Amino acid sequence: MTVQTLKIKRPDDWHLHLRDGEMLEAVLPETTRHFARAIIMPNLVPPVVTNEEAKAYRERIMQAVPSGDNFEPLMTLYLTEDTDPDDLEQAFKSGTVHAAKLYPAGATTNSENGVRNFENIMPVLERMAEIGMTLCVHGEVTDPAIDIFDREKVFIEAVLDPLRQRLPQLRVTMEHITTSDAVDYVTGSTGPLGASITTHHLMINRNAILVGGIKPHYYCLPVAKREEHRLALVKSATSKDERFFLGTDSAPHLDKAKIDVCGCAGIFTSTNTMACLAQVFDDENALDRLEAFSSLNGPKHYQLDANEEMITLVKRDIPTVFPASITTPDGPVTVFDPMTPLYWDVES
Ligand code: NCD
Ligand code: ZN
Repeated sequence: MTVQTLKIKRPDDWHLHLRDGEMLEAVLPETTRHFARAIIMPNLVPPVVTNEEAKAYRERIMQAVPSGDNFEPLMTLYLTEDTDPDDLEQAFKSGTVHAAKLYPAGATTNSENGVRNFENIMPVLERMAEIGMTLCVHGEVTDPAIDIFDREKVFIEAVLDPLRQRLPQLRVTMEHITTSDAVDYVTGSTGPLGASITTHHLMINRNAILVGGIKPHYYCLPVAKREEHRLALVKSATSKDERFFLGTDSAPHLDKAKIDVCGCAGIFTSTNTMACLAQVFDDENALDRLEAFSSLNGPKHYQLDANEEMITLVKRDIPTVFPASITTPDGPVTVFDPMTPLYWDVES
């Protein structure tokens, strides 16, 4: 029985991995069912580096959109030390590409072609600042001497803050923030800075990965931190601060790649993200803030209009049942299990 409904503007996902080929076909409907737009991560193998590659990838995504769904992929370029500022400017001005993604080399899945020496991308970053193009940052240092749980905090101090002082007009998205340090950095800053927060980082802390046996399906990068950090993320997501918005970082990997001696980083949340978020906001008595987090703050940061269309969320008196996995020709991809009942769903 329905106990409550909530109407919000159709949400967007400001950080999404769609992959390519058969995986793309399998995961895309899970996003287009609820989301109107998404910032598409460029970490394919090989990565999406040029305007041409971004246009071609966009075409492949459009081909895979289920008929009847409206979806706009907002493309990104993967920054390398060889990125050509002119090509990047053209990509941005053509309207296909909305941001460029900075991966410190080795920081995460498919980041080997990322940046080793930040000095080498200064001309590109200067151009981005000039034309108003957003830099999406995977904010973790890769120094083996730095503990994996401290890599975000150290990145902010050692890389991000000096960079923003040097180029204060550069528009920056701190992607998938996981710490109270990142929250404090955003709230304490001025200038064009926003931060995306994932669904899973609002729901799990590092115990999910390590207590009662090792649980590869809860492993992602940046890795989930202590409970106090999760609480800081929930507080900022449900606050009135417009600089925090949804980026699911839904990152599908085949189960056989997750459950391995060297399992891949990434959690697949597209299927139940809106139900998870409604539950989190409901538990915080903050359902009135859900629309801002998932549908208003993101477009504002990316200087786009919010969607016109609405969706309706419904709360029932029995938990919603989601599939445990989705199927691809190469095997299943496990859907995020929030380990708590979800009473919400999106009305279809
Ligand atoms: C992402 C992936 O699988 O591409 N993995 C992840 O753990 N989030 C890469 C990323 O966004 O870091
Ligand atoms: Zn990601």
